[in-house]
Amino acid sequence: MEAIGIHLNNIHKTFLHRVKGEVKAVNNVNLNIEHAKLVTLLGPSGCGKTTTLRMVAGFEQPDKGTIFLGEENVTNLLANKRNIGFVFQNYALFPHLSIYENVAYGLKVQGISPQEEKKRVNEILAMVGLTGYEAQFPHQISGGEQQRVALARAIVIRPKVLLLDEPLSNLDAKLRVHTRSEIRRLQQSLNMTSIYVTHDQEEAMAISDRIAIMNKGKIIQVGSAEELYFQPNSEFVAKFIGRINSLPAEVQEADDSFILVKIFSHTYKISTTLDGIKPQQKMNVFIRPEFVQLSKQAEENELKGIITEKVFLGEKVEFTVDVYGHTLNITSYNAVESAKYLLNQEVGVCLAEKELKIFTEKGD
Ligand SMILES: Nc1ncnc2c1ncn2[C@@H]1O[C@H](COP(=O)(O)OP(=O)(O)O)[C@@H](O)[C@H]1O
Ligand SMILES: [Mg+2]
Repeated sequence: MEAIGIHLNNIHKTFLHRVKGEVKAVNNVNLNIEHAKLVTLLGPSGCGKTTTLRMVAGFEQPDKGTIFLGEENVTNLLANKRNIGFVFQNYALFPHLSIYENVAYGLKVQGISPQEEKKRVNEILAMVGLTGYEAQFPHQISGGEQQRVALARAIVIRPKVLLLDEPLSNLDAKLRVHTRSEIRRLQQSLNMTSIYVTHDQEEAMAISDRIAIMNKGKIIQVGSAEELYFQPNSEFVAKFIGRINSLPAEVQEADDSFILVKIFSHTYKISTTLDGIKPQQKMNVFIRPEFVQLSKQAEENELKGIITEKVFLGEKVEFTVDVYGHTLNITSYNAVESAKYLLNQEVGVCLAEKELKIFTEKGD
């Protein structure tokens, strides 16, 4: 299968919503997806993921901007001329057709010979692990199996591009994990350039080459899971991928390459090349829970706190610590160490200086 890139340039889409009035569902989206890669649109409900995907499919027309599939400008091309496979959240199988007929549907539309049709349907059903299900009807099979039929139906036409809109949200947790790795395996083995939509960060991290974080119709940041986790560009991204603590700070000194900030009783040095930070300025400083450490005794000037919650989760322990009226989440992966700390205990709280982050963008 020939794989092609997907390119969205300055895409806008406004709806007139009956309750909300004018809604900028998609507000100047730019996205380039290399051939054979899977990019996920990740963001909260209502941020414009489905609308973006539907415009790529041709189910919706952008108000402004262009969409290219490979070299071809498809912005004004009808959906059925785009050669795209689409998997919907609710499967959208034809209830009165057998599994075989559901999968064969797109091939019949294309006028493919009965022999070739049989060969390709059987091949795809084998790929998704549904050989033997040909004569069954959708209501006779489980949700997970129905979703695999939907996937088979989308890819049997050998689309240049595969689009999936929250394809796993109707499945239970265990099946979701299994099915997502099946989707990833097929996407990679068939070299299908794909856009995957979800609001689930773990799913996005597990399945994607790159993730585009969306909020309020805009793409806030695009990157690999690692890039987004370790180098978020905004508070919004830092909070959407993983968890992060926010602490009030006051700038004491600002240099070209670093700033000194005071957080409660302690002064920290943060490397930054951001301009315009001034002494006495108040700001929030951020740190992920795994980069905060407890100690039995606070060193001089070190932060002090009281453990208000301790949750043992096997491979990790999660503490909530009250630091001068501020709640801090701390994650420890050291079982022996964390056994030493108990509820209501007074502790020292050490922030790993290297891991302190500041953001100029809120992302919303
Ligand atoms: N057909 C429509 N008519 C009016 N408003 C719509 C329509 N489709 C989507 N919207 C609005 O556009 C925004 C983005 O929706 P959507 O793309 O479905 O978000 P997501 O898939 O990220 O949950 C929402 O505010 C939604 O209410
Ligand atoms: Mg949606």
